[in-house]
Amino acid sequence: MPVDHFVAPENSLEPVRYDIIEMLHRAASDKSHPWRYPTVASVDQNGAPQARVMIVRDFDGTIPQIRVFTDARSPKFAELSANPDIQLVFYDPGAKLHLRASGTAKLHVRDDVTNACWNALPEFGRGDYLSRLPPGAAITSPEDALQDDSFGSENFAVIDIELTEADWLSLSANGHKRARLIWRDGKCEGRWITP
Ligand SMILES: Cc1cc2nc3c(=O)[nH]c(=O)nc-3n(C[C@H](O)[C@H](O)[C@H](O)COP(=O)(O)O)c2cc1C
Repeated sequence: MPVDHFVAPENSLEPVRYDIIEMLHRAASDKSHPWRYPTVASVDQNGAPQARVMIVRDFDGTIPQIRVFTDARSPKFAELSANPDIQLVFYDPGAKLHLRASGTAKLHVRDDVTNACWNALPEFGRGDYLSRLPPGAAITSPEDALQDDSFGSENFAVIDIELTEADWLSLSANGHKRARLIWRDGKCEGRWITP
């Protein structure tokens, strides 16, 4: 949809934009927030969707950008290296707020960003990136999934997701509300759409 058709953010869409930014800030800082664990979808080499749950680790509302962590040997890392298109789905059943956010993934491995995030990770959080075999590799039994501490931060990857579009849906007995926002050239524009 051409961005020209969108209404300016200073009108009735501004509270929606504010709500999205606020919810994502809380998801990044509060482990019990319902938006903490979005479903994150990439596209594989055959063009098929691949979705999984991930943890929101950080959020920069000025870009806006969501940060997640993964293992650089995982299929999702290879998928996003080949095609950075990514989509996240959040739902808060209490607030009845659903968000489908699309964006572009920037991958970090063995750089300043991964070093800083790794150093801030508690010891128990590092084990997820220290498996002896790559994530998804076949093993005979769960006990064969050994950890190899000598890897250090070698396979630890940070994915920064710059949001380009958001489809926000608020469910209510008084009438659902839905809006689509687009971030482009540092500006956010949006419009109400039919729920
Ligand atoms: C609550 C929860 C949180 C998870 N968080 C992450 C995460 O932040 N990063 C990650 O790589 N995998 C995470 N996982 C594991 C993935 O959902 C999934 O099993 C795995 O990453 C699949 O990888 P693939 O899609 O690359 O094959 C999480 C799983 C659960 C259940």
